[in-house]
Amino acid sequence: MNDHSSNSTNSTNKPVNSVLNTKLCQMLGCEYPIIQTAMGYVALPELVAGTCNAGGFGFLAAVTIPPEDVEAAILKTASLTDKRFGVNFHMFTPGADIIAETIIKHKDKVAAVSYGRGPNPEMIARFKEHGIAMIPTVGKTQHAIKAVKLGADAIVVQGGEGGGHTGSAPTSIIAPQTVDAVDVPVIAAGGFKDGRGLVAALAYGAEGIAMGTRFLMTTDSPVAALSKERYLAVNDTDDIAVSYALDGMPLRLIRNEILEKLENKGQLSALLFAIKNGWECRKITGMSILDLMKSALVFRKDGLSATQTIMSANAPVLYTKTWVDGKPDEGALPSGQIAAAIDKLESCDDVIRDIMSEANERLAALHG
Ligand SMILES: Cc1cc2nc3c(=O)[nH]c(=O)nc-3n(C[C@H](O)[C@H](O)[C@H](O)COP(=O)(O)O)c2cc1C
Repeated sequence: MNDHSSNSTNSTNKPVNSVLNTKLCQMLGCEYPIIQTAMGYVALPELVAGTCNAGGFGFLAAVTIPPEDVEAAILKTASLTDKRFGVNFHMFTPGADIIAETIIKHKDKVAAVSYGRGPNPEMIARFKEHGIAMIPTVGKTQHAIKAVKLGADAIVVQGGEGGGHTGSAPTSIIAPQTVDAVDVPVIAAGGFKDGRGLVAALAYGAEGIAMGTRFLMTTDSPVAALSKERYLAVNDTDDIAVSYALDGMPLRLIRNEILEKLENKGQLSALLFAIKNGWECRKITGMSILDLMKSALVFRKDGLSATQTIMSANAPVLYTKTWVDGKPDEGALPSGQIAAAIDKLESCDDVIRDIMSEANERLAALHG
Protein backbone atom coordinates (compact mmCIF):
# COMPACT_ATOMS: atom_id res chain seq x y z
CA MET A 1 0.00 0.00 0.00
CA ASN A 2 1.12 3.56 -0.64
CA ASP A 3 2.62 6.14 1.66
CA HIS A 4 -0.23 7.84 3.56
CA SER A 5 1.40 11.23 3.55
CA SER A 6 1.31 12.10 -0.15
CA ASN A 7 -1.87 13.11 -1.93
CA SER A 8 -2.64 13.17 -5.66
CA THR A 9 -5.58 14.56 -7.62
CA ASN A 10 -8.22 12.76 -9.65
CA SER A 11 -9.84 13.68 -12.95
CA THR A 12 -12.03 16.27 -11.20
CA ASN A 13 -8.91 17.72 -9.57
CA LYS A 14 -10.07 16.81 -6.08
CA PRO A 15 -7.25 15.67 -3.83
CA VAL A 16 -7.30 11.90 -3.30
CA ASN A 17 -5.45 10.42 -0.38
CA SER A 18 -2.76 8.29 -2.01
CA VAL A 19 -3.70 5.37 0.23
CA LEU A 20 -6.76 5.07 -2.01
CA ASN A 21 -4.66 4.63 -5.12
CA THR A 22 -3.97 0.96 -4.46
CA LYS A 23 -2.29 -1.89 -6.35
CA LEU A 24 -5.75 -2.78 -7.64
CA CYS A 25 -5.99 0.56 -9.48
CA GLN A 26 -2.56 -0.04 -10.99
CA MET A 27 -3.44 -3.61 -12.01
CA LEU A 28 -6.74 -2.71 -13.66
CA GLY A 29 -5.98 0.82 -14.83
CA CYS A 30 -8.96 2.30 -12.98
CA GLU A 31 -8.98 5.49 -10.94
CA TYR A 32 -10.51 4.12 -7.74
CA PRO A 33 -10.26 0.77 -5.91
CA ILE A 34 -13.92 -0.06 -6.44
CA ILE A 35 -15.13 -3.05 -8.42
CA GLN A 36 -18.65 -3.64 -9.69
CA THR A 37 -18.98 -7.41 -9.57
CA ALA A 38 -20.65 -9.69 -12.05
CA MET A 39 -24.36 -10.27 -11.52
CA GLY A 40 -26.13 -12.53 -13.99
CA TYR A 41 -28.70 -10.60 -16.10
CA VAL A 42 -27.82 -7.35 -14.22
CA ALA A 43 -24.18 -6.54 -14.94
CA LEU A 44 -24.91 -5.64 -18.57
CA PRO A 45 -23.09 -3.08 -20.76
CA GLU A 46 -24.84 0.03 -19.35
CA LEU A 47 -23.98 -0.82 -15.73
CA VAL A 48 -20.41 -1.84 -16.54
CA ALA A 49 -19.79 1.31 -18.59
CA GLY A 50 -21.47 3.48 -15.91
CA THR A 51 -19.04 2.07 -13.32
CA CYS A 52 -15.96 2.43 -15.50
CA ASN A 53 -16.84 5.96 -16.58
CA ALA A 54 -17.15 6.88 -12.89
CA GLY A 55 -13.59 5.66 -12.21
CA GLY A 56 -14.40 2.16 -10.88
CA PHE A 57 -13.97 -1.17 -12.67
CA GLY A 58 -17.00 -3.13 -13.87
CA PHE A 59 -17.37 -6.80 -14.81
CA LEU A 60 -19.76 -7.79 -17.58
CA ALA A 61 -21.75 -10.91 -16.60
CA ALA A 62 -21.19 -13.08 -19.67
CA VAL A 63 -22.34 -16.18 -17.82
CA THR A 64 -25.96 -15.41 -18.61
CA ILE A 65 -25.38 -14.22 -22.19
CA PRO A 66 -25.47 -16.87 -24.97
CA PRO A 67 -21.78 -17.41 -25.94
CA GLU A 68 -22.29 -16.24 -29.52
CA ASP A 69 -23.73 -12.92 -28.24
CA VAL A 70 -20.85 -12.13 -25.87
CA GLU A 71 -18.88 -10.33 -28.57
CA ALA A 72 -21.80 -7.96 -29.22
CA ALA A 73 -22.06 -7.28 -25.47
CA ILE A 74 -18.32 -6.52 -25.26
CA LEU A 75 -18.56 -4.19 -28.26
CA LYS A 76 -21.65 -2.49 -26.82
CA THR A 77 -19.83 -1.90 -23.52
CA ALA A 78 -16.82 -0.53 -25.40
CA SER A 79 -19.11 1.83 -27.31
CA LEU A 80 -20.27 3.31 -23.97
CA THR A 81 -16.88 3.73 -22.32
CA ASP A 82 -13.31 4.25 -23.44
CA LYS A 83 -12.08 2.53 -20.27
CA ARG A 84 -11.11 -1.15 -20.12
CA PHE A 85 -13.47 -3.43 -18.22
CA GLY A 86 -13.78 -7.04 -17.07
CA VAL A 87 -15.78 -10.09 -18.15
CA ASN A 88 -17.11 -12.83 -15.86
CA PHE A 89 -17.97 -16.34 -16.97
CA HIS A 90 -17.86 -19.93 -15.74
CA MET A 91 -14.97 -21.68 -17.39
CA PHE A 92 -16.74 -25.04 -17.28
CA THR A 93 -20.05 -24.29 -19.00
CA PRO A 94 -20.86 -25.10 -22.65
CA GLY A 95 -19.56 -22.35 -24.93
CA ALA A 96 -16.82 -21.30 -22.48
CA ASP A 97 -14.21 -21.73 -25.25
CA ILE A 98 -16.10 -19.34 -27.51
CA ILE A 99 -16.30 -16.75 -24.71
CA ALA A 100 -12.60 -17.15 -23.90
CA GLU A 101 -11.56 -16.62 -27.54
CA THR A 102 -13.87 -13.60 -27.80
CA ILE A 103 -12.30 -12.04 -24.71
CA ILE A 104 -8.78 -12.64 -26.03
CA LYS A 105 -9.75 -11.17 -29.39
CA HIS A 106 -10.83 -8.00 -27.55
CA LYS A 107 -8.00 -7.82 -25.04
CA ASP A 108 -7.55 -4.13 -25.86
CA LYS A 109 -10.96 -3.64 -24.18
CA VAL A 110 -10.97 -6.42 -21.56
CA ALA A 111 -8.41 -6.03 -18.76
CA ALA A 112 -9.59 -8.83 -16.46
CA VAL A 113 -11.63 -12.01 -16.19
CA SER A 114 -13.52 -13.04 -13.05
CA TYR A 115 -14.84 -16.52 -12.34
CA GLY A 116 -15.99 -18.82 -9.58
CA ARG A 117 -15.88 -22.56 -9.34
CA GLY A 118 -14.27 -24.96 -11.77
CA PRO A 119 -11.16 -23.13 -12.96
CA ASN A 120 -9.27 -24.64 -15.83
CA PRO A 121 -5.48 -24.04 -15.47
CA GLU A 122 -4.85 -24.14 -19.25
CA MET A 123 -7.46 -21.49 -19.90
CA ILE A 124 -6.13 -19.36 -17.04
CA ALA A 125 -2.61 -19.59 -18.48
CA ARG A 126 -3.86 -18.63 -21.93
CA PHE A 127 -5.56 -15.46 -20.61
CA LYS A 128 -2.44 -14.53 -18.69
CA GLU A 129 -0.29 -14.92 -21.83
CA HIS A 130 -2.46 -12.20 -23.32
CA GLY A 131 -1.99 -9.89 -20.33
CA ILE A 132 -5.51 -10.37 -18.96
CA ALA A 133 -5.68 -10.34 -15.14
CA MET A 134 -7.39 -13.33 -13.53
CA ILE A 135 -9.55 -12.39 -10.54
CA PRO A 136 -11.74 -15.19 -9.12
CA THR A 137 -14.30 -14.70 -6.37
CA VAL A 138 -14.02 -17.05 -3.41
CA GLY A 139 -15.97 -17.54 -0.21
CA LYS A 140 -13.28 -19.34 1.77
CA THR A 141 -9.62 -18.63 2.41
CA GLN A 142 -8.58 -22.14 1.37
CA HIS A 143 -10.25 -21.56 -2.01
CA ALA A 144 -8.21 -18.37 -2.36
CA ILE A 145 -4.98 -20.29 -1.72
CA LYS A 146 -5.95 -22.86 -4.35
CA ALA A 147 -6.94 -20.17 -6.86
CA VAL A 148 -3.59 -18.42 -6.46
CA LYS A 149 -1.78 -21.73 -7.06
CA LEU A 150 -3.78 -22.06 -10.29
CA GLY A 151 -2.65 -18.60 -11.42
CA ALA A 152 -5.01 -15.96 -9.99
CA ASP A 153 -3.53 -12.45 -10.09
CA ALA A 154 -5.88 -11.06 -7.42
CA ILE A 155 -8.71 -12.47 -5.31
CA VAL A 156 -12.17 -11.14 -4.53
CA VAL A 157 -13.13 -12.65 -1.19
CA GLN A 158 -16.84 -12.52 -0.44
CA GLY A 159 -18.16 -12.65 3.11
CA GLY A 160 -21.49 -14.28 3.96
CA GLU A 161 -23.36 -10.96 4.02
CA GLY A 162 -22.90 -10.74 0.25
CA GLY A 163 -25.58 -11.30 -2.37
CA GLY A 164 -25.99 -14.29 -4.64
CA HIS A 165 -24.30 -17.58 -3.75
CA THR A 166 -22.48 -17.01 -0.55
CA GLY A 167 -20.63 -18.67 2.30
CA SER A 168 -21.10 -18.25 6.02
CA ALA A 169 -17.96 -16.48 7.23
CA PRO A 170 -18.48 -12.72 7.55
CA THR A 171 -16.30 -10.30 5.60
CA SER A 172 -14.69 -9.03 8.81
CA ILE A 173 -13.20 -12.49 9.41
CA ILE A 174 -12.55 -13.82 5.94
CA ALA A 175 -11.03 -10.69 4.36
CA PRO A 176 -8.08 -10.24 6.78
CA GLN A 177 -7.61 -14.02 6.95
CA THR A 178 -7.29 -14.18 3.16
CA VAL A 179 -4.96 -11.16 3.07
CA ASP A 180 -2.65 -13.07 5.42
CA ALA A 181 -2.88 -16.29 3.40
CA VAL A 182 -2.06 -15.16 -0.15
CA ASP A 183 0.55 -12.95 -1.75
CA VAL A 184 -1.66 -11.33 -4.41
CA PRO A 185 -3.95 -8.30 -3.96
CA VAL A 186 -7.18 -9.13 -2.13
CA ILE A 187 -10.41 -7.25 -2.72
CA ALA A 188 -13.06 -7.46 0.00
CA ALA A 189 -16.70 -8.09 -0.96
CA GLY A 190 -19.92 -8.60 0.94
CA GLY A 191 -21.69 -5.79 2.75
CA PHE A 192 -20.05 -2.70 1.24
CA LYS A 193 -21.79 0.48 0.13
CA ASP A 194 -19.82 3.50 1.33
CA GLY A 195 -16.50 5.16 2.08
CA ARG A 196 -16.38 3.89 5.65
CA GLY A 197 -16.53 0.37 4.29
CA LEU A 198 -13.74 1.10 1.82
CA VAL A 199 -11.47 2.43 4.58
CA ALA A 200 -12.34 -0.58 6.76
CA ALA A 201 -11.42 -2.93 3.90
CA LEU A 202 -8.09 -1.16 3.45
CA ALA A 203 -7.52 -1.49 7.19
CA TYR A 204 -8.00 -5.27 6.82
CA GLY A 205 -5.16 -5.14 4.29
CA ALA A 206 -7.38 -5.42 1.20
CA GLU A 207 -6.59 -3.36 -1.90
CA GLY A 208 -10.17 -2.34 -2.56
CA ILE A 209 -13.82 -3.31 -2.35
CA ALA A 210 -16.14 -5.17 -4.73
CA MET A 211 -19.89 -4.56 -4.62
CA GLY A 212 -22.86 -6.23 -6.26
CA THR A 213 -26.00 -5.12 -4.45
CA ARG A 214 -25.01 -1.42 -4.28
CA PHE A 215 -24.56 -1.38 -8.07
CA LEU A 216 -27.77 -3.33 -8.66
CA MET A 217 -29.53 -0.54 -6.75
CA THR A 218 -28.44 2.28 -9.08
CA THR A 219 -30.20 4.18 -11.80
CA ASP A 220 -27.73 2.64 -14.28
CA SER A 221 -28.70 -0.95 -13.54
CA PRO A 222 -31.06 -2.58 -16.04
CA VAL A 223 -33.36 -4.01 -13.34
CA ALA A 224 -37.07 -3.21 -13.84
CA ALA A 225 -38.20 -0.15 -11.82
CA LEU A 226 -40.79 -1.99 -9.71
CA SER A 227 -38.22 -4.56 -8.67
CA LYS A 228 -35.73 -1.83 -7.67
CA GLU A 229 -38.52 -0.38 -5.49
CA ARG A 230 -38.85 -3.77 -3.80
CA TYR A 231 -35.13 -3.80 -3.00
CA LEU A 232 -35.37 -0.26 -1.59
CA ALA A 233 -38.33 -1.25 0.59
CA VAL A 234 -36.30 -3.80 2.58
CA ASN A 235 -34.85 -2.32 5.77
CA ASP A 236 -34.25 -5.34 7.99
CA THR A 237 -31.27 -7.61 7.31
CA ASP A 238 -33.34 -10.54 8.65
CA ASP A 239 -35.49 -10.22 5.52
CA ILE A 240 -32.46 -11.02 3.35
CA ALA A 241 -31.67 -14.60 4.22
CA VAL A 242 -29.75 -17.55 2.85
CA SER A 243 -31.94 -20.23 1.30
CA TYR A 244 -31.24 -23.50 -0.50
CA ALA A 245 -34.72 -23.63 -2.00
CA LEU A 246 -34.04 -21.94 -5.33
CA ASP A 247 -31.17 -23.94 -6.74
CA GLY A 248 -30.06 -26.27 -3.97
CA MET A 249 -27.07 -24.07 -3.07
CA PRO A 250 -26.76 -21.36 -0.38
CA LEU A 251 -28.14 -18.25 -2.05
CA ARG A 252 -28.80 -14.97 -0.25
CA LEU A 253 -32.17 -13.53 -1.26
CA ILE A 254 -34.82 -11.08 -0.14
CA ARG A 255 -37.60 -13.20 1.34
CA ASN A 256 -40.87 -13.12 -0.61
CA GLU A 257 -43.91 -15.30 -1.14
CA ILE A 258 -42.37 -17.35 -3.93
CA LEU A 259 -39.43 -18.23 -1.73
CA GLU A 260 -41.75 -19.26 1.12
CA LYS A 261 -43.64 -21.50 -1.32
CA LEU A 262 -40.45 -23.04 -2.66
CA GLU A 263 -39.20 -23.70 0.84
CA ASN A 264 -42.43 -25.45 1.76
CA LYS A 265 -42.56 -27.70 -1.30
CA GLY A 266 -41.87 -31.39 -0.83
CA GLN A 267 -38.93 -32.83 -2.76
CA LEU A 268 -41.05 -34.22 -5.59
CA SER A 269 -43.01 -31.01 -6.04
CA ALA A 270 -39.76 -28.98 -5.98
CA LEU A 271 -38.29 -31.19 -8.70
CA LEU A 272 -41.40 -30.93 -10.90
CA PHE A 273 -41.31 -27.15 -10.51
CA ALA A 274 -37.62 -27.12 -11.54
CA ILE A 275 -38.26 -29.39 -14.54
CA LYS A 276 -41.02 -27.07 -15.74
CA ASN A 277 -38.63 -24.14 -15.32
CA GLY A 278 -35.93 -26.07 -17.19
CA TRP A 279 -38.20 -26.04 -20.21
CA GLU A 280 -38.92 -22.31 -19.91
CA CYS A 281 -35.25 -21.63 -19.23
CA ARG A 282 -34.56 -22.91 -22.73
CA LYS A 283 -36.61 -20.07 -24.17
CA ILE A 284 -34.85 -17.48 -22.00
CA THR A 285 -31.22 -18.53 -22.35
CA GLY A 286 -31.44 -19.83 -25.90
CA MET A 287 -29.72 -23.03 -24.75
CA SER A 288 -30.83 -26.23 -26.47
CA ILE A 289 -31.94 -29.19 -24.37
CA LEU A 290 -28.59 -30.80 -25.25
CA ASP A 291 -26.70 -27.74 -23.95
CA LEU A 292 -28.75 -27.76 -20.76
CA MET A 293 -27.97 -31.43 -20.24
CA LYS A 294 -24.25 -30.87 -20.92
CA SER A 295 -24.26 -27.98 -18.49
CA ALA A 296 -26.07 -30.11 -15.93
CA LEU A 297 -23.47 -32.86 -16.32
CA VAL A 298 -20.63 -30.40 -15.73
CA PHE A 299 -22.44 -29.15 -12.64
CA ARG A 300 -22.61 -32.75 -11.44
CA LYS A 301 -18.89 -33.26 -12.03
CA ASP A 302 -18.40 -30.13 -9.95
CA GLY A 303 -19.90 -31.91 -6.96
CA LEU A 304 -23.57 -30.92 -7.19
CA SER A 305 -26.24 -33.51 -6.53
CA ALA A 306 -28.74 -34.51 -9.23
CA THR A 307 -31.40 -32.52 -7.36
CA GLN A 308 -29.24 -29.39 -7.24
CA THR A 309 -28.45 -29.81 -10.92
CA ILE A 310 -32.11 -29.92 -11.89
CA MET A 311 -32.98 -27.08 -9.51
CA SER A 312 -30.42 -24.77 -11.17
CA ALA A 313 -33.03 -24.35 -13.93
CA ASN A 314 -35.22 -22.32 -11.54
CA ALA A 315 -32.89 -19.35 -11.48
CA PRO A 316 -33.16 -17.96 -15.04
CA VAL A 317 -36.96 -18.16 -14.99
CA LEU A 318 -37.43 -16.55 -11.58
CA TYR A 319 -34.74 -13.91 -12.23
CA THR A 320 -36.36 -12.92 -15.51
CA LYS A 321 -39.60 -12.24 -13.63
CA THR A 322 -37.69 -9.84 -11.36
CA TRP A 323 -35.17 -8.19 -13.67
CA VAL A 324 -37.17 -7.97 -16.88
CA ASP A 325 -40.86 -8.35 -16.11
CA GLY A 326 -40.76 -6.13 -12.99
CA LYS A 327 -42.74 -8.67 -10.96
CA PRO A 328 -40.74 -8.92 -7.72
CA ASP A 329 -43.49 -10.88 -5.97
CA GLU A 330 -43.36 -13.62 -8.60
CA GLY A 331 -39.61 -13.80 -9.00
CA ALA A 332 -36.45 -14.41 -7.01
CA LEU A 333 -34.62 -11.44 -5.47
CA PRO A 334 -30.94 -12.26 -4.89
CA SER A 335 -29.43 -9.59 -2.69
CA GLY A 336 -26.75 -8.85 -0.16
CA GLN A 337 -27.78 -7.84 3.35
CA ILE A 338 -26.52 -4.35 2.58
CA ALA A 339 -29.77 -3.70 0.64
CA ALA A 340 -31.37 -3.13 4.05
CA ALA A 341 -29.06 -0.15 4.55
CA ILE A 342 -29.57 1.41 1.11
CA ASP A 343 -32.52 3.76 0.83
CA LYS A 344 -32.07 5.51 -2.48
CA LEU A 345 -31.17 4.81 -6.06
CA GLU A 346 -28.22 6.81 -7.31
CA SER A 347 -26.18 6.77 -10.49
CA CYS A 348 -22.91 4.82 -10.51
CA ASP A 349 -21.21 8.18 -10.77
CA ASP A 350 -22.82 9.45 -7.55
CA VAL A 351 -22.22 6.16 -5.71
CA ILE A 352 -18.51 6.16 -6.53
CA ARG A 353 -18.02 9.89 -5.95
CA ASP A 354 -19.71 9.65 -2.52
CA ILE A 355 -17.65 6.61 -1.54
CA MET A 356 -14.42 8.36 -2.46
CA SER A 357 -15.25 11.59 -0.73
CA GLU A 358 -16.38 9.78 2.43
CA ALA A 359 -13.24 7.60 2.37
CA ASN A 360 -11.09 10.74 2.10
CA GLU A 361 -12.95 12.31 5.03
CA ARG A 362 -12.60 9.19 7.16
CA LEU A 363 -8.88 8.94 6.44
CA ALA A 364 -8.39 12.61 7.27
CA ALA A 365 -10.33 12.19 10.52
CA LEU A 366 -8.29 9.11 11.46
CA HIS A 367 -5.01 10.91 10.77
CA GLY A 368 -6.23 14.05 12.50
C1 LIG B 1 -28.42 -10.01 -7.97
C2 LIG B 1 -27.09 -10.65 -7.81
C3 LIG B 1 -26.65 -11.52 -8.79
C4 LIG B 1 -25.40 -12.12 -8.69
N1 LIG B 1 -24.97 -12.92 -9.70
C5 LIG B 1 -23.70 -13.40 -9.68
C6 LIG B 1 -23.19 -14.12 -10.79
O1 LIG B 1 -23.87 -14.34 -11.78
N2 LIG B 1 -21.91 -14.57 -10.71
C7 LIG B 1 -21.11 -14.32 -9.62
O2 LIG B 1 -19.94 -14.73 -9.61
N3 LIG B 1 -21.58 -13.63 -8.55
C8 LIG B 1 -22.85 -13.16 -8.56
N4 LIG B 1 -23.32 -12.42 -7.51
C9 LIG B 1 -22.42 -12.09 -6.38
C10 LIG B 1 -21.74 -10.74 -6.66
O3 LIG B 1 -20.92 -10.83 -7.78
C11 LIG B 1 -20.92 -10.20 -5.48
O4 LIG B 1 -19.87 -11.09 -5.18
C12 LIG B 1 -21.77 -9.92 -4.26
O5 LIG B 1 -22.94 -9.25 -4.65
C13 LIG B 1 -20.99 -9.04 -3.27
O6 LIG B 1 -21.74 -8.78 -2.11
P1 LIG B 1 -22.71 -7.49 -1.95
O7 LIG B 1 -23.95 -7.87 -2.63
O8 LIG B 1 -22.86 -7.34 -0.47
O9 LIG B 1 -22.05 -6.31 -2.57
C14 LIG B 1 -24.58 -11.84 -7.57
C15 LIG B 1 -25.05 -10.97 -6.58
C16 LIG B 1 -26.28 -10.37 -6.69
C17 LIG B 1 -26.75 -9.40 -5.63
